[in-house]
Amino acid sequence: MSQRFFVSCQIGLEELLEQELHEVFPWLLDLDFRPQTSGFQLLEKAKGGIEIETEFHLGLQLNYFLKVASRILLRLEKRDRIQEFFQLERSLKAIGLKKHLGSKPFSIQVDCSQSRLGQEKKVQATVEKALESQGLIPTPEPSQKVLVRIHKDQLSVSLDTSGEHLHFRGYRKFQGIAPLRESLAAAALMLLRGDRSLGSLQHGELLDPMCGSGTLLLEAAQLYQPNFNRGYAFESWTQLPVLLQKYPRKKMNVAGLPFQRFIGLDHDPQVLELAKKNVSEDFPSMDWLVQDFFSFQRDPSLESELWVVSNPPYHERIKADFSMEDYVKKLQSLKPRRLALVLSEKQAAGFRKLWPGLSDISTDNGGLSIRIIFSSTDLQW
Ligand SMILES: C[S@@+](CC[C@H](N)C(=O)[O-])C[C@H]1O[C@@H](n2cnc3c(N)ncnc32)[C@H](O)[C@@H]1O
Repeated sequence: MSQRFFVSCQIGLEELLEQELHEVFPWLLDLDFRPQTSGFQLLEKAKGGIEIETEFHLGLQLNYFLKVASRILLRLEKRDRIQEFFQLERSLKAIGLKKHLGSKPFSIQVDCSQSRLGQEKKVQATVEKALESQGLIPTPEPSQKVLVRIHKDQLSVSLDTSGEHLHFRGYRKFQGIAPLRESLAAAALMLLRGDRSLGSLQHGELLDPMCGSGTLLLEAAQLYQPNFNRGYAFESWTQLPVLLQKYPRKKMNVAGLPFQRFIGLDHDPQVLELAKKNVSEDFPSMDWLVQDFFSFQRDPSLESELWVVSNPPYHERIKADFSMEDYVKKLQSLKPRRLALVLSEKQAAGFRKLWPGLSDISTDNGGLSIRIIFSSTDLQW
């Protein structure tokens, strides 16, 4: 049965999310446990997400695979010109939420903007009344979330399929003071890889010279792998197909970004201990070195390609005790084949003057505007 899903992401990452949807869809399974063949239809690319139409069991499986997404909503209703409370009530009664939720505890989140039904409290009361008449009573400790949005008189009612935001992967048990959001790390790594096939990375080294708790390297090892380290809200729904009740929870053949070596440097031994603790047996082995980036020397006899990902301290969170000039000079001295840097807007402006010609996209990390600067093709030295 075809359904609509809204896959949300941080503003600025929509293009990457679309790319990721195309990349992961071939790995999803059909109801008979074989690779799916029906795909998805892209309905709308909006600010902060993409609306797609696909089979129910495929949309839910996306939770396991998508790394750039924030969460996946199952659209239960989308209706224009909802201007009266009785229309709202009627729409909610027609949805049949009980089919999914059974008697699971749930909460309602209402968001109204630029609409005739603009009073969120009154809308909330109407929604509660409509659901209560079907025996669905919101509770203070919910495991499920129903989202009701009225924007420009258009009503959309969705059920959150993800639960905790998808950037909580479950592997980062320990973190430093300025950790990078995992979805952002995944975005930087997808930009770093660009047009390169996974096979072509096997002889390369991935270096994060200021790795903190290791998010970029850990994400690199997990990219394109399904995530079974955590639970998802949909897993406790009633009437799930057998496929989703008995999903084969195994690794894919592709092992993240298959670099031959992962190297993380940080001059702070304590944060590096946290990074090491985050590495479970699911990860390839990684080298964690307590070292100042500016004194790091790469063995000049090494012929393997060096790829660099870096998220240096933003002045806003941790003070950086080096200049952008020194940072750029050091990066260039390593002659990386490819590069992706997660910088604050201010750092990015300085960086671009010193090293022009690279690509970039802008988004945010926990409310701070940031830019991912990257080489979209191989750098020549
Ligand atoms: C923004 S944090 C990195 C956060 C990391 N991406 C994560 O998710 O945990 C920057 C890190 O750079 C490290 N750092 C700062 N200056 C350094 C230097 N000169 N050499 C090596 N590490 C440095 C800090 O100790 C800090 O852990």
